Amino acid sequence: MTFNSKSKSFVTRQGRITSNQRKALDSFWNQYVISELSAIQGFIRGNYSLLDIGFGAGETLVSIAQKNKDISLLGAEVYQSGIGTVLSKADKFNLENIRIVNEDAEDLLQNKILNNSFDAIIMFYPDPWPKRRHHKRRLIKKEFIELLNKKLKPNGIFYFKTDWKDYFDKVNLLFEGPNWEELNLIDLEEHLRDIPSTSFEKKAIHANRSLNTKIVKKVN
Ligand SMILES: C[S@@+](CC[C@H](N)C(=O)[O-])C[C@H]1O[C@@H](n2cnc3c(N)ncnc32)[C@H](O)[C@@H]1O
Repeated sequence: MTFNSKSKSFVTRQGRITSNQRKALDSFWNQYVISELSAIQGFIRGNYSLLDIGFGAGETLVSIAQKNKDISLLGAEVYQSGIGTVLSKADKFNLENIRIVNEDAEDLLQNKILNNSFDAIIMFYPDPWPKRRHHKRRLIKKEFIELLNKKLKPNGIFYFKTDWKDYFDKVNLLFEGPNWEELNLIDLEEHLRDIPSTSFEKKAIHANRSLNTKIVKKVN
């Protein structure tokens, strides 16, 4: 399946990049950002591997990487501002278990990830595209879920959060069926249970928006 630019989940502008982010992008890009299929597979092969889709400022990615040196964390993000922030932290905390792909996560999964690759895929607060005419831009739809299923290892986990109830309700329905088993937070291993709130999540809590979580395990 391919998408035209109108139905992408992001708009093609880079936004403001701070001088610190620029410095980190210039200094550490080659060390942490990968794009070739062979480099990506080489990085995730063999270890417990986790993909963070749309990591934003990378708070979750960095937190898991700091506490779990034995996990290979791949982050997919389209905007370089967030990548700059992660590169700066990866250098500061000497994180060797992070790699970044600066690409549309859907293209990444389709073209550069072999089937049965990830132990876990997380997707926290993807852009909700609230207007009905924009719903086609939402990342999670039937085809995307089929893609997730293929790219997860057997028993692999998909962990999703949104503060947008109607998005959540639709996602909930899409995971019905024999390919997925619903889990609760308590069922997860420590590294997925012990994830601090990002600033995005804190803002949602502060604004009294509901936090909706979907956790599923691949069974087929
Ligand atoms: C609302 S932010 C959430 C950031 C972070 N996950 C958090 O919880 O704080 C959504 C992020 O998804 C990224 N994004 C949107 N579409 C994407 C895509 N197709 N592939 C990769 N990243 C994407 C956006 O650039 C943005 O940084």
